[in-house]
Amino acid sequence: MAKQEDFFKKVVSHAKEYGFIFPSSEVYDGLSAIYDYGQNGVELKNNIKAYWWKAMVQMHENIVGLDSAIFMHPTVWKASGHVDAFNDPLIDNKDSKKRYRADVLLEDYCAKLEDKAEKEIEKAKKRFGESFDQAQFEATNPRVVEYREKQKSILARMAKSLDANDLEDVKTLIEELEIADPETGSKNWTEVRQFNLMFGTKLGAAAESAMDLYLRPETAQGIFINFSNVQKTSRQKLPFGIAQIGKAFRNEIIARQFIFRMREFEQMEMQFFVPPGTELAFYEEWKEKRYKWHLALGLGAENYRFHDHEKLAHYANAAADIEYKFPFGFKELEGIHSRTDFDLSAHEKHSGRKIQYFDPERNESYVPYVVETSVGLDRMFLAVFSTCLKDEVLEDGSERTVLALPPALAPVKAAILPLIKKDGLPELAEKIFNDLRFDFNIISEEKDTIGKRYRRQDAIGTPYCITVDHDSLQDNTVTLRERDSMKQERVAISDLKNIIDEKVNFRTLLSKV
Ligand code: GAP
Repeated sequence: MAKQEDFFKKVVSHAKEYGFIFPSSEVYDGLSAIYDYGQNGVELKNNIKAYWWKAMVQMHENIVGLDSAIFMHPTVWKASGHVDAFNDPLIDNKDSKKRYRADVLLEDYCAKLEDKAEKEIEKAKKRFGESFDQAQFEATNPRVVEYREKQKSILARMAKSLDANDLEDVKTLIEELEIADPETGSKNWTEVRQFNLMFGTKLGAAAESAMDLYLRPETAQGIFINFSNVQKTSRQKLPFGIAQIGKAFRNEIIARQFIFRMREFEQMEMQFFVPPGTELAFYEEWKEKRYKWHLALGLGAENYRFHDHEKLAHYANAAADIEYKFPFGFKELEGIHSRTDFDLSAHEKHSGRKIQYFDPERNESYVPYVVETSVGLDRMFLAVFSTCLKDEVLEDGSERTVLALPPALAPVKAAILPLIKKDGLPELAEKIFNDLRFDFNIISEEKDTIGKRYRRQDAIGTPYCITVDHDSLQDNTVTLRERDSMKQERVAISDLKNIIDEKVNFRTLLSKV
């Protein structure tokens, strides 16, 4: 555990030291759970967005994009249910005065039980070696079975109580399990209360006539209220989707774990509109497609797992999360929900306008059903960044830190490094730079020894370093060093563009999706 915590601290400090993520308003001591993306962070984030957008919109003839406003009419949030039900159950510790989400306390308790189960499995794996039958062990080992049954029963009881708004029972459960304040160990808890997560603001200058608005807590509603506009103007037939990337805001009770749970964050959401009755087949299809999209990044299949929801939201008839193994354990990365016709019907009702689709094959109008895929951009960033950050011991015993990003996502694609700052080398480096900058985000660096410059580029994940030396002036070749293998080869300057492009273009990723 301590090792995991140390690694997570390294992730946070590396992100700051190398210009990926800074605490927001740091000169004023920061703002809790708000972060700014620095010069390298914004590039990595933009590349993740591009990967998602290209896979969703560019690669699907029946998915189109949208960029709806953050401010929406307040009735949107009444219709969507967010005004009445976008709550988290909170609980305070009377001694430490710290505030927690009651459901997260229970989920963390279950995660500890799961850790214990996994430790048993690991021990048995070592003991039995090659002959180990994991599935059989998991199904029959009394301790593993007990840990898992206990988790199941806790989560089922929590789901039932939250569903029935029986907050007293949620508190009783916390007390029965003797869950203590994680920071102080105190078990002196208040009652559990509901807390609405939406941020409010005002539209209009005069205080009396100003309209109460909310900062959107999800981008999805902007898609729903534009369904008819987009469908009519794009002439799309069902099934078709609308995709959007944008900011969302939630007044999270506990905002921790760096950019995992923020108060201002970005979502990449796609709502797929389908004929009623076909939604569950599309739901399965999208689960598979989204899983493939993640796997194509090459972060390792062992880092993902599906979690099917036991407690379905009132509007959903199926829901699952793709969970990722973050440095602090498996947590939700993406949600895939079959949202029925709940949202469009609710907006029909509250707006008094028809929000329907005329189906020429069925020869009838109806409210489409919706399958949603929703992934947090910042969580994607954290997943990619933390998994790719590695400390390596090299053959000569020296160490390096390398951010082994998928090349298409790397902030800088190549660094041009003149070996020394004289003899015409900077001038040739500048010429190469000026040629390649039309195609790639590249940088040029003259300061420090070549070794130090290589290390700096490794630390920000640059796939190639291009070293310009005296031979370059004679034969128009340069040394090309590849980040992961650290192999160096001599290549013609005229070949650089093609070599770099082959490595960093999105085609390789997209062809696996
Ligand atoms: N439209 C559906 C929706 O918003 P959600 O499960 O609440 O569903 C979708 O959010 C995704 O947004 C999550 O899987 C997560 O990746 C991301 N997300 C949610 N809350 C977040 C937060 N406070 N900070 C960062 N990402 C968050």
